Amino acid sequence: MDAARQAELLALAGRYLAGGGTGLFLLPPELNLVVARGEGSRIWDVAGREYLDYHLSSGPILLGHAHPAVTRAVEEQLSKGTTYFFLNEPEILLGQRLVEAIPCADVVHYTGSGTEATFYALRVARAWTRRDKVLKFEGAWHGMHDYNLWGTVPARASDYPRAAPDSVGVPAQTGDTVLVTPFNETEQAVAMIERHAHELAAVIVEPLQRVLQPEPGFLEALREVTRRHGIVLVFDEIVTGFRIAWGGAQERYGVRPDIACYGKAVSGGFPLAVMAGDAEIMSVLDARNRPKSDVVWATNTLNGNPVCAAAGLAALDALSAPGVYDHLGRVGSRLRAGIVEAGTRHGFDVQAPGEDAVFGIRFTSRKPLRTWMDLTTADKDLGWRWAIELMKRGLLVNPNEKFYISIQHTDADVDRTLDIVDEAFHALRGGT
Ligand SMILES: Cc1ncc(COP(=O)(O)O)c(C=O)c1O
Repeated sequence: MDAARQAELLALAGRYLAGGGTGLFLLPPELNLVVARGEGSRIWDVAGREYLDYHLSSGPILLGHAHPAVTRAVEEQLSKGTTYFFLNEPEILLGQRLVEAIPCADVVHYTGSGTEATFYALRVARAWTRRDKVLKFEGAWHGMHDYNLWGTVPARASDYPRAAPDSVGVPAQTGDTVLVTPFNETEQAVAMIERHAHELAAVIVEPLQRVLQPEPGFLEALREVTRRHGIVLVFDEIVTGFRIAWGGAQERYGVRPDIACYGKAVSGGFPLAVMAGDAEIMSVLDARNRPKSDVVWATNTLNGNPVCAAAGLAALDALSAPGVYDHLGRVGSRLRAGIVEAGTRHGFDVQAPGEDAVFGIRFTSRKPLRTWMDLTTADKDLGWRWAIELMKRGLLVNPNEKFYISIQHTDADVDRTLDIVDEAFHALRGGT
C-alpha cells in the first residue's frame, strides 16, 4: 500500500533497466505499475491497487497466479537443489506426461523459452531435410530469433515470398532463407510450398495465428503438401498448447504436425518450453545413434531443470482435472460475447476473433477476419484508448493483443469485467 514506493521503483526501473522495463509495451506514466503479488485471477501493484488480470503474463498463468499445487511442487523441489545439468526425475516424468498428452509427440526436447523451441525446431528440420529455407505466415509470431522476425507485424502486404525484417539488427541474409505468405490463403500457400519444395526444410505455422482461426482445409492442405514433399511441418503451439484443448490445436483442429513447440502454459509460469515430435525427425538430436558431427546442437544450461519440470508436472495435473476446459470455454465465451454486445450497443464495430480461452478484441467492420491484412484494418488507436479506459478501472489487459482466461476466472469476475467494459465504452463516447 505504498504509492510513493511504487513511484520510487518506477524511477529506478527507468534508470537501470534498458528501455525502463521489460520491453513489452509502454504504459502512460499514471497507469504504469510494479506488481507486488498475484493470486488467482488478480494481481496487486506496489501502490496497493487490485487488478483483474486478463494479460496473465502473456499467457503462462493459465492456472491463475500462485496456484497452490504448483507452488507446493516448486517449494518441495527447491530444498533439493535447483539445477544439476544431469538428468533429474521431474524432467523425465514430465517428458512421459507430455508424450502421452501431445498428439504428435514420440519424444520431447526441453528449451528455456518459446523462442528457443521454434529456433531449434527449424534447425532440426534443416538437419533432417538437408535443406535451408523455411516458410512462415504473414503476421505469425514465433519469438525473437532472427529467422522469425520477418513479416511479423507488417502494416502493408509483403512482397511475397519476401518480407521486411521486424527488428533492426536482424541480418539481411537470414531473410534470404525465410519465405512469407498469407495465413489462410490456402491455394497461394500450397503453390508457394510446391514452387520452393526442393529448398524448403520446414513450414512453421501458428495453428491459431494470433487470434485468427484456421479456415477449414487450410491446416489440412499444409499437412498434405509438406508430407508429399518431405518438408517438416511445425506447429507453434506456444499459445494454444494445453489451452484451447488438452491436446492443443492438434486436437481442436484435427491436424497433426511433425513437430510442435510448447511454452507458456506448459510449465505453470516457469521458464520451460518444449519441442515435441516425431521420433525419426527428432533423432537428429540423438548422439547415441549418429556421429557427433551429424548431431543437432540444442543444449542450454538450464534446459529441463527440475524446478521448472516440477512446476510443469503440477500444472499438467491441474489442467487434467475434469471440467477445466469446459470452464475456460464457458467463462471465455461469456466474456467474448459480452464485450461484443456492449461495444455494439455503444455503436462500435467490434469483434472478438480467436478461441474462448484466448481471443482478441478488434475494432473493425472487416468480416470475416481471415488474414493478417484483415487484422490491419482494425483501429489500433481506438483499441489502445479502450484498453487504457479498462486499465483505469482495474482490468489488466494487453492493448490490441489478446485476452487470456485462467481457470481461476469466475462468473463473478466476468460480471464485474462486463460492467467495467460497459463503462469504458461509455467513456469513449464522451461519458464519464
Ligand atoms: C505463438 C508464439 N510463439 C513463440 C513465442 C515466443 O515465446 P517466448 O516469449 O517464450 O520466447 C510466443 C510469445 O509470445 C508466441 O506467442
